[in-house]
Amino acid sequence: MKLTDLRGILQYIPQFREKTFILAIDAGIVASDSLATLLLDVALLRSLNIRVVLVHGAAEQIRALADERGVAASDIEGTGITDAATLDLAITAANRLTHDLLEGLSANDLRGACGNVIVAHPLGVIQGVDHLFTGRVERVDAEFLQSLLAQGVVPVLPPLGIDGDGKTYRVNSDAMAVAVAEQLKAVKLVFVTPQPGLFHRGQPIRQMLVGELARLVDRDAAGFTSEMLSRAHHAVRACQNGVPRVHVINGTLDEGLLAEVFDNHGLGTLIHANEYENIRPAKKKDVQAIQLLTRQAVEADELLKRPRNALEKSVSDYYIFEIDKNPVACVALHVYPEQNQGELASLYVSASHENQGIGRKLLQFVESRAREAGLKALFALSTQASTYFQSKGRFVEGAPDDLPPARREKYEQSGRNSKVLIKKLD
Ligand SMILES: CC(C)(COP(=O)(O)OP(=O)(O)OC[C@H]1O[C@@H](n2cnc3c(N)ncnc32)[C@H](O)[C@@H]1OP(=O)(O)O)[C@@H](O)C(=O)NCCC(=O)NCCS
Repeated sequence: MKLTDLRGILQYIPQFREKTFILAIDAGIVASDSLATLLLDVALLRSLNIRVVLVHGAAEQIRALADERGVAASDIEGTGITDAATLDLAITAANRLTHDLLEGLSANDLRGACGNVIVAHPLGVIQGVDHLFTGRVERVDAEFLQSLLAQGVVPVLPPLGIDGDGKTYRVNSDAMAVAVAEQLKAVKLVFVTPQPGLFHRGQPIRQMLVGELARLVDRDAAGFTSEMLSRAHHAVRACQNGVPRVHVINGTLDEGLLAEVFDNHGLGTLIHANEYENIRPAKKKDVQAIQLLTRQAVEADELLKRPRNALEKSVSDYYIFEIDKNPVACVALHVYPEQNQGELASLYVSASHENQGIGRKLLQFVESRAREAGLKALFALSTQASTYFQSKGRFVEGAPDDLPPARREKYEQSGRNSKVLIKKLD
């Protein structure tokens, strides 16, 4: 990674501090040379106080061990029938891989632990067939995992679960990773695979909203390979159950994990939940709410006072951020079509909801709206939040000359001497 990327990385640090990432590592990656570099990346995440849980599969090693012992494995992936001999193979292979990961963590001065955190029950009889020792995750001992994470430990979870009677079952590692991500309220679930992301009919999926992926899976499941389809299902499930971002990355690439996590345009696939669902366009009846919301900031000269009739005329430029139907923040996008520029204005987050990332979300929302509208630049005028726009929105300081002429005239008349912030959108 280039030194010039450092600023890009630094902006994510406060956002991810003490947050949890789940890495679901393909068995092929655990057994490969790529593991060492992947664990270096994990060490970097830990140094930024990001909590990391490693979940791994064991399919390839089960196959290899079966060949070595001359035993026919009844199932490789953890979704078919696991007979007693295959369960034995799975326990041996999975524990070997867990140990490899623990060794790798030690080599990076990281503390790791494996515990009985996955409570599994037998999958049972499905369409008349007893799946024997194949299990499904019944519960994740989130409290145990949280206590490990709070002590800076990296938990390592093999694809095995134990029931209340002390019996072991094989579980599918992707399904387990989803369950762990949901229970720990992880902000990211990253599938580390030998492929560069999800592909549909041979085309890479770079970024997709969860609803869109769910529709694609419904409409054309045959366009995915079986392995990718399973991953797509798990990504949808995780996003629909509260994990905001699911990544599928190529674990064989140097710094593939860092590039994906710290760059909005990562190299793999990003499936994301709709982060903008709390944001809606303002309506006429919201004028009073906007005035009430921003009154304090207007009094403190953080925002320009906009008379009610002016607000009424431009209310369709405004967006409201609601929590439980209460407006807690607002922003506006005023477009200057002749210059193909947009003004991000009236950004305000109520004091009771500050520092929760709402301002940043509104910045991103307006930016994506401006991009959709094909604008070439966004500008903002601010008296007291200019560094916010620079550090969180990656605006740069400009000059009054950068403003569209009509806006520049108003700027000079106002005498507020606000800082001019610009962001180019190409
Ligand atoms: C500026 C404002 C929109 C930030 O909203 P928010 O939802 O609290 O911000 P986020 O949660 O996205 O980000 C919080 C981060 O921004 C920083 N921040 C908050 N206000 C800031 C300001 N005025 N200047 C610089 N940084 C600021 C916080 O210290 C915090 O930093 P950290 O992530 O490094 O810990 C909000 O404080 C506000 O409404 N201010 C008054 C109105 C205003 O000045 N609007 C801009 C003019 S259009």
